[in-house]
Amino acid sequence: MPKFNENYFHLKESYLFSEIAHRVNAYTEKNPDKKVIRLGIGDVTLPLGSEIISQLHKGVDALASAETFKGYGPEQGYDFLRNAIVDYYHRNNVTLHPCEVFVSDGAKSDTGNITDLFDTDNIVLIPDPVYPVYVDTNLMNGRNIVYIDANEENDFLPMPDFNVHADIIYICSPNNPTGAAYNIEQLKKWVDYALKNNAIILYDSAYECFITDETLPRSIYAIEGAKKCAIEFCSLSKTAGFTGTRCGYTIVPEDLTFLSSAGAKISVNAMWNRRQTTKFNGVSYIVQRGAAAVFSPEGMSQCKMNIKYYQENAHIIMNSLTKKNISCYGGVNSPYIWFKCPNDMDSWDFFDYLLNNAQVVGTPGAGFGKNGQKFFRLTSFGTHNSTIKAMERIDKLF
Ligand code: MLT
Repeated sequence: MPKFNENYFHLKESYLFSEIAHRVNAYTEKNPDKKVIRLGIGDVTLPLGSEIISQLHKGVDALASAETFKGYGPEQGYDFLRNAIVDYYHRNNVTLHPCEVFVSDGAKSDTGNITDLFDTDNIVLIPDPVYPVYVDTNLMNGRNIVYIDANEENDFLPMPDFNVHADIIYICSPNNPTGAAYNIEQLKKWVDYALKNNAIILYDSAYECFITDETLPRSIYAIEGAKKCAIEFCSLSKTAGFTGTRCGYTIVPEDLTFLSSAGAKISVNAMWNRRQTTKFNGVSYIVQRGAAAVFSPEGMSQCKMNIKYYQENAHIIMNSLTKKNISCYGGVNSPYIWFKCPNDMDSWDFFDYLLNNAQVVGTPGAGFGKNGQKFFRLTSFGTHNSTIKAMERIDKLF
């Protein structure tokens, strides 16, 4: 009889967004005449930019002729895309070498896959509330997690306690779900902490393209010393609307080295490369062609137009909630609006209440951790019309 990884039994029965989909499906089956507006999962609604589409087509055409056909590609990604990503970082004043860039099928996969590199016996520090993938993937491996509170008192930006030791630290900035973003000084404290504790930071920058305050860092490598202590995960899902197309990248600096238990120098870049070449065969050539177009001047300007559209939605949501005296966070450097549930409701109760009475779907804060118990998240990735309609419906309820 196979022995299973019983750590799975410590997980919640279903993944947060599967649970939401399940409840919404049950509701729509019972109420087929009701028009539900989905502002729950952060899934984009605008089509890909025309420059990306045109390059995707060229990628398809290349596969149609023997001269340009592509079979297996490099597991780390094609050079044309790795170089385009290096240039993108360079424009944001961060210097990388292409061998530090690993093209992935998204930040969700790699923030989970990275746990392969670490022993069970690590102290893992994770903010609460947080993107549930960090917690679930560590629980799957039987690791102990130490939570650090993100709450209204610290503006949802917890800072390191130098008296508490951690080996692995998760940071997401701009944050999912709260929308809070660390400034340079705050992020530097985390880098200092990691360097002092010989710890590694797993930095999720999936929402960097939503930063409007130009003084805020878009990459942890904007902080001196970060290449010695941090891996960065990014995604084109929100930058360029690749939620369905799937493409992201993980930066593992060559300077990121630690000592093994036997005292040998470990290159995390080499270890990740070993993991990827064994378990991953790369993102399809077609998708990588489209992804490279994101970083071209034309492609980037089209992506920015889409981002602006979503930022207008964020504005609509925030205005409407603020008018109702509902305290809300995020929305400025982030596509997510995080707010206190009205009338001190618990977040899953509020979820059901909104679904049943306004046919609006959001994400209950409790799904992101105990500190989200009384909070709720709306996404700005809907259409203008659906966002306006959702806020009109919510407006009528309170
Ligand atoms: C979210 O809604 O939190 C994200 O879209 C989920 C994800 O990126 O996997």
